[in-house]
Amino acid sequence: MVNKSLNSNFHKASKAKKDEFYTQLVDIEKELKHYKDQFRNKVVYCNCDDPYESNFFKYFAANFNSLGLKKLITTSYIKSSIAGGQLPLFEVKGLKPKGKEPFKIELNEVTDVDADGAVGLTDVKWLLKNNANIATPLKGDGDFRSEECIGLLGQADIVVTNPPFSLFREYVAQLVEYKKKFIILGDQNAITYKDFFKLIKENKLWLGYDNGGTKWFQVPMDYDIPTESRIKIENGVKFFSMGRIVWFTNMETTKRHQELTLYKKYTPEEYPRYDNYEAINVDKVSDIPMNYKGAMGVPITFLDKYNPNQFEIIGQTHSGDNSPEVELLRKDPEHRHRGIVHGESKEKYARILIKNKKVKK
Ligand SMILES: C[S@@+](CC[C@H](N)C(=O)[O-])C[C@H]1O[C@@H](n2cnc3c(N)ncnc32)[C@H](O)[C@@H]1O
Repeated sequence: MVNKSLNSNFHKASKAKKDEFYTQLVDIEKELKHYKDQFRNKVVYCNCDDPYESNFFKYFAANFNSLGLKKLITTSYIKSSIAGGQLPLFEVKGLKPKGKEPFKIELNEVTDVDADGAVGLTDVKWLLKNNANIATPLKGDGDFRSEECIGLLGQADIVVTNPPFSLFREYVAQLVEYKKKFIILGDQNAITYKDFFKLIKENKLWLGYDNGGTKWFQVPMDYDIPTESRIKIENGVKFFSMGRIVWFTNMETTKRHQELTLYKKYTPEEYPRYDNYEAINVDKVSDIPMNYKGAMGVPITFLDKYNPNQFEIIGQTHSGDNSPEVELLRKDPEHRHRGIVHGESKEKYARILIKNKKVKK
């Protein structure tokens, strides 16, 4: 079970169904630049993205040729509160159809009509007039779980989006069921979700590149943000900052092959053993000792540095983890949840239990 008291952005989104926050182009560019070679000749599907408003559509339309995409499909959702135009794409007045019905755009061909070297306003207007490209209302509501959207998912090689956080588990389960490659945003705390964690442990998904720092997301003006410091309004546009939003992917990354340099040596004083797990406690990822052979409990931020050739993930200090590997480490049937050190459970978040594969004795 996830610690309900965490009051994370993820839970807030889940409870209030506050899924309406929109990724900025700069954040999309920062992440996707690392995968450029992997998009060649691929069909990309953005399945929670109003094609007239999402920056994911904008990114892929503008980079269609440089990425060598075969096709781009984007679909919107009827219940999106921005349907109707708070985030007009390229600020093209009149381009977007009136009304709130969900839409699908399929791009097959993008031409730099004005030959200015980039896809801009003129080109976007033109690309929807090109018969090779299709803009049509959806038959249903655009729910990613609908038959119509699953049909489009079937055509896709790679799914890229920021999905609704309130449906994150279901969203990921569907991608896995349909064996899709993906690059998606999510709350870091999703890592501790049982099924999601299993995928990480089995090396079926990992973190992308741009996971440090705070990301600002555009939100509708009536989006309620209780913390003042997390709000900014620029040119009449409201933004919400979230610090724990990370990229998850199953696409190849160079990052996951880089070894984490370890500086510290193990001493029993600095790395106390848990009372309830056969493992030592490590408070900071940078403090992982270089010479410890056994199990270590590390913060979930470790995953941003995880190289499966260097480390093995055993499980997590979470009562929901009843894998045989974690059961073997458990010492106290009464305390199956967070790691306890000297009688005190200081951890708010689950720790990941890892082993350094390179330490043999
Ligand atoms: C976090 S927002 C991100 C929007 C867009 N991908 C972006 O990053 O700018 C998630 C979007 O998913 C939409 N959504 C919510 N439930 C959905 C569903 N069942 N099927 C498809 N989209 C859904 C919301 O309306 C919202 O626009």
